[in-house]
Amino acid sequence: MRIETTVKGMQQLALREKRSGRKIGLVPTMGFLHAGHMSLVALARTRADLVVLSIFVNPTQFLPGEDLASYPRDIERDKDLCIEAGVDHLFYPDDSEMYAADYSVFVEEMALSKVLCGASRPGHFRGVTSVVAKLFNIVMPDIAVFGQKDAQQCRVIQRMVRDLNMPVEIVLGPIIREPDGLAMSSRNKYLSRNERPRALCLRRSLDAAEAMVKEGARSVADIKAGVLAVIAAVPEARIDYVEFVDNETLVPVSRIQRPVLLALAVRIGGTRLIDNTVLASP
Ligand code: PAJ
Repeated sequence: MRIETTVKGMQQLALREKRSGRKIGLVPTMGFLHAGHMSLVALARTRADLVVLSIFVNPTQFLPGEDLASYPRDIERDKDLCIEAGVDHLFYPDDSEMYAADYSVFVEEMALSKVLCGASRPGHFRGVTSVVAKLFNIVMPDIAVFGQKDAQQCRVIQRMVRDLNMPVEIVLGPIIREPDGLAMSSRNKYLSRNERPRALCLRRSLDAAEAMVKEGARSVADIKAGVLAVIAAVPEARIDYVEFVDNETLVPVSRIQRPVLLALAVRIGGTRLIDNTVLASP
């Protein structure tokens, strides 16, 4: 596996690969890799001739006071996981390689990025779309793979690619979970031993909603009451949002008719966790 730390080096490598007719798959990450990330690598391998994984803890998507400085990192372990998964090239730039001191250009999606996590983390998605646009210019992928774990991020990036005519196909992978149901996340590392079992209320509340829909419930008010009750049973859980939105437009809905994204953000102690499921009436 080749490790590329410069933008120029990565671009030259990408151009060489493209000229030899190879299809490039990109998996953008912030590192501290887990099985969720590696599932995206496996998916990329089925759709491309070579896989580039990027590791860059992107400062522009963290708000002041968020966990940029403490974001978990372990590059040696990440490298081993990439080799094991058959990543062809690891792109691992540092901050100054990605952002000039007088950096001044951003890509901002103006609708889908303003709700859900965008409402509680204003500016977050501007950082995400900007860095992903940069990564697309650097790695020149034919396909790029993102996880449904960050459902809103997927929708925002799909919109960016559509509206800016970026020549890249967005491929989505399902949420990978721990055996007990907790969605894998680099931030799970922040949970204390006591908090870890409490964090299961996210998945349990989604299960409750899925069960209600299966039994015929269609009213979002009714299903939301069920979701809130499951989370309320954990006193340490503080809800950031519980939202039922159209799975494509992210506009709030009051009934389950077309596929509805049930998205939640819940704080367990100091750790903000997100999870989601798509509810659909059969
Ligand atoms: P990061 O949180 O490292 O996630 C990288 C990719 O892995 C994202 O597409 C995310 O949705 C996916 N992912 C994370 N946990 C997952 C899980 N449990 N199952 C499946 N996929 C999972 O998302 C980012 O980084 C950044 O915002 C980034 C897109 C790299 C831009 O900086």
